[in-house]
Amino acid sequence: MATLMDSKSAGFAFSAKLGATRAILRAFGLFGDPFTRLLQGRTDPYPLYEKVRRRGPIHRSHLGSWVTGSHELGSRILRDRTLFLNRTQGGVPGHEMMADIPWNSSILGLDPPDHTRLRRLAQPAFGPRMISKYRIQVEKLCHHLLDQAATRDSFDLIEDFAGPLPLLVIGELLGVPEQYHERFIRAGRKVGPVIDGVKSLKMAREFRAAVDDLDEVFTELIALRAEDPGDDLISRLTTAHGDGKLTTEELLAFCTVLAVTGFETTTNLIGNAVLAMTGDRTQWNLLLDDPDLAPRAVEETLRHDSPALQAQRVPHQDIALAGHHIRADSSVVVLIGAANRDPEVYDDPDRFDLTRENPAEHLSFSGGIHYCIGAPLARMEGETALRVLAQRLPDLRVAGPVRRRSSPVISGCTRLPVTGKAA
Ligand code: HEM
Repeated sequence: MATLMDSKSAGFAFSAKLGATRAILRAFGLFGDPFTRLLQGRTDPYPLYEKVRRRGPIHRSHLGSWVTGSHELGSRILRDRTLFLNRTQGGVPGHEMMADIPWNSSILGLDPPDHTRLRRLAQPAFGPRMISKYRIQVEKLCHHLLDQAATRDSFDLIEDFAGPLPLLVIGELLGVPEQYHERFIRAGRKVGPVIDGVKSLKMAREFRAAVDDLDEVFTELIALRAEDPGDDLISRLTTAHGDGKLTTEELLAFCTVLAVTGFETTTNLIGNAVLAMTGDRTQWNLLLDDPDLAPRAVEETLRHDSPALQAQRVPHQDIALAGHHIRADSSVVVLIGAANRDPEVYDDPDRFDLTRENPAEHLSFSGGIHYCIGAPLARMEGETALRVLAQRLPDLRVAGPVRRRSSPVISGCTRLPVTGKAA
């Protein structure tokens, strides 16, 4: 893939543009614009979300984007298929410099009718029959990963458990054979972090190399499945490709996007759940006493510390929202993390509470036509992981300094040392 980062001078131009983007963010941040400050990255964005909410249901940031932290309005915007188009990567520093980022041509970046066509092709892979088929495999994988990690005095929950689990599951879902696992995982780990924004020329180059590597892996697998189809998603999509239902570019982008979206987010769901519940023993003990609370633990984690923090839409005509005139083609950002702690909807929203009675639907899986296709899989992986952790490691607790991401888009830990040994 030839890109603007290939030559030395193009690399210089890329770095200069990245530096300029950062300087603009810093300058507007100094004026106190909460959205600009959020884009600079925060390990705890919630105080800034509060400031966003104080500016009313929706306001215009210094960068020109319209921003809402309201649950009611955010939910309406995400679900409105008549007014809004999806433009996924806007607002994230550095993405505008990577126009050929693969998810722009995937369902994440498309609008109907192309979006509808692609989504229909993948939907059956996430249906109830497939999810219950994967459940047993996920449980086995959880035990297998803990057999290796939990023999040590302490281990990193992200590196040794919550990270590999979703990648292996997606590998299974896509039908990546074992001999490709190492390459797939290595490339997946390099591609995933770009959801956060492109932070350096080195990161951009590594990302490019990893996308090329994933493309190569998928190209080989597509050729294999064309000859010998199985019950996996690559086979399904390859057959559809053969029938002319999707282009080669769409097929490759789809596989890459599934590898990226299903990996980072689910890792963070598991990490965020463990961090919240082991930080408040009463919550962890509730789960130990009643493992059937695992689905609730997943929902409350999604609400309280959503792995996905924002989504963007673009109105295709002038519209009025909460008394403001919003021009066609403006960027409208829904701060999912803020909406999930909207005091108009949730009592005591900053508290993690497994017994919460009104889990009004959080926005962590977005809404409307782009509602996360992997939600049933993520929920099942989260529930299964928490059940197995509670069963195997009832004394689970944090055992060292935790490192959190400071991303405007993704919330989670990059390091979460834990121990299962009794205190
Ligand atoms: C806790 C885990 C997850 C979270 C929080 C999450 C969050 C999201 C969000 C917020 C969107 C919508 C973005 C928008 O509206 O613009 C989305 C879409 C999507 N997600 Fe997930 N996701 C998770 C897990 C997964 C998994 C496991 C997969 C697949 C293996 C997946 C695949 C996708 C795909 C393909 C889309 C695009 C759907 C469309 O545009 O129609 N996600 N996800």
